[in-house]
Parts: sequence; structure tokens; C-alpha cells
Amino acid sequence: MESFIAAAQRSTELAAAVGEHPEKFRVLTGERPTGPLHLGHYFGTIRERVRLQQVGVETFLVLADYQVITDRDTMAHVRENVYGAVLDYLAAGMDPARTTIFTHSSIPALNQLLVPFLSLVTEAELHRNPTVKAEAEASGRALSGLLLTYPVHQAADILFCKGNLVPVGKDNLPHVEMTRVIARRFNERYGAIFPVPEPLITATPEVPGLDGRKMSKSYGNAIALSMTPDETVAVIRRTRTDHERRITFDPGLRPGVSALLSTAALCMNTSPEELADSIGGGGSGALKAVTAAAVNEFLAPLRERRRELAADVGLVQSVLRQGNERAAAVAEATLAQVRDAMGTVY
Ligand code: TRP
Repeated sequence: MESFIAAAQRSTELAAAVGEHPEKFRVLTGERPTGPLHLGHYFGTIRERVRLQQVGVETFLVLADYQVITDRDTMAHVRENVYGAVLDYLAAGMDPARTTIFTHSSIPALNQLLVPFLSLVTEAELHRNPTVKAEAEASGRALSGLLLTYPVHQAADILFCKGNLVPVGKDNLPHVEMTRVIARRFNERYGAIFPVPEPLITATPEVPGLDGRKMSKSYGNAIALSMTPDETVAVIRRTRTDHERRITFDPGLRPGVSALLSTAALCMNTSPEELADSIGGGGSGALKAVTAAAVNEFLAPLRERRRELAADVGLVQSVLRQGNERAAAVAEATLAQVRDAMGTVY
């Protein structure tokens, strides 16, 4: 919590520095392609990435496909999720000419960084990571070697391109912290190659899922960007609310009602309290109708672009091919420096 508050404060300063000197920053961020991207992703990170790209910050976006098998044993649907995410990014305004969109499993030199990086952390440090602990518990299975070490793999995702700014949610802060430790230790031991990256926390509060828990595809409480308007109406209608006619914003006592208010308010650019007042005694029916209309209206242009892009057969593959080529060249250059620093050029 303390480190979250510190990071949030620092993020305000960083945001100002980015505005003044976009050329000093290289952003690396991304996600685990475990399902369709949803509104939580959009308000939490995607919107901010588009903004960073627009102010001229060079951006790398990783689709961390190997992270899918940290806590499960199937790669089913990963390809479909990767393709879907690329369409979502493009529809949201990411420009593949300016932003390198890539899959980390396709970049051998990135993955090779994992070997020296693993030597720089202890088993105790790996076990202490609160996010890894929580994910291991939530999975209900034995801790895999990959789950235990994926924060180090994530350090390779960030450092291969010398990313110095990492927009992430709260959950990923411990990984950025570990990346900083690895960068420092590598630099001390072998010579200064890596920047010590900083996390950038976005201003948007966490977007609640429709049941008031965190929005997550695994909780089934998410509104995917790619849903049709009818599907959107249907998930919103399924939200558990209550029989109190008067609509009030009270996340503790009324999680469903409050989640709908938060979601609609974000889409309407208002506050949940004001929206609650305007719905007044209309009850859940009115609240759901307002929310569905707000979400569908907000997402309409994105969905329209997404439909057009999806009709362009081969587009996603060519974006990924180009991104992977670019990322591979950058990774090779960094690995060459690493080899040189470590004295392993033969
Ligand atoms: N762990 C991130 C997530 O939960 C995904 C990710 C992989 C990532 N590598 C990264 C995020 C590097 C930021 C930087 O979605």
C-alpha cells in the first residue's frame, strides 16, 4: 500500500516530465492474452497508452503469451486472444507505425535474458512477491516454476528494449520493483547497460466488474470491448442489484448498483454520485438501461473501427510480423551488449 501511494505520487511527476520531454522515455507495457480485452483495460491502461503514443513517446506493447501458462496448463485460445487484442489496440488508436506490438515468445533474444537475470535474484525474493503469492493461491494448484519466476521474465520484457517507463496497474508494481533490482544488480556486476525503469500508475481508479469485484475475464463480470451491443445489454442485465428503488452510490453495501454507476459514469464522463442523483427513484431497471446505453454509445466508434479492421484479412498478422521483426532487432542489439559485458563473446 505504502509503495502504491509513493508510486502514485511519483506518477504525477513522471506524467509532467513526459509532457515536457517525451523523447527521454521509452514505454514498455502489455498484457497476458488470457481473454478478450474489456472496459477495465480500456480505462485502466489502453487509453493512457494511446495518449502517450500521441505525445510522441516511443512505445512497445508486449502480448505476453508465455505468461498464460504460469498458472494454467493450456494454450487453447491464446492465438485468438492475441489477434483479438491487436484488433482492440488498433481500434482504440494504437498505430503500428509508431508502436511496436509484439509477442514475447517470438523473440528468442528477449527470452535469453532470463538466464543471467535469474542469477541475480534469490529464491526468497521470488517467494516474497505478493502478486505471485496471490496468483498461486487463486489458481488452487501447485506453484509452477514459471509462475514463481515470471516477474523475472517480465523484467526481460521490459529491459530488452531498455524501457524506462512502465504503465501498469497495482498488481504489477512488485514486478516493476523486481525489474529495478535486476537492472541495478546487472549494472553493478557487469557494467551499466540497463536503465532503472519506473512504474507509471494511471489516474483512473480501478474499474469495478459488474459484481463490484475487480473487472476480470475470469470472474465473468467484464464488458469486453469486442461484444455486440446486444451482448452488452445482456451482461449488464444479469448484474445482481437489489430492490431498493432509490439509486445511491455505496460500493460497500450495494456492490452491483455501484459497479453499474461507476461504469456508466466513466463512459459518460460524470461522477457516479451525480449519475445516481439523476436516476433517483428509477430503480435497477432504469439504472441498467442507462448503463447499457452509456457503454454502447461510448464504445460505438471503437467497435465500428474494429469491425472495419477485422474485415482486412491478414492485417493482424502483418502488424505482428512487423512488430516481432522490430522487437527482435532491438533484443538482438541488447543481447549483444549483454554478451559483451559478461565476456561471453566467442
Ligand atoms: N503481467 C502483465 C499483466 O498482468 C503483463 C505483462 C507482461 C507486462 N510483461 C509485461 C506488463 C511487461 C508490463 C510490462 O497483464
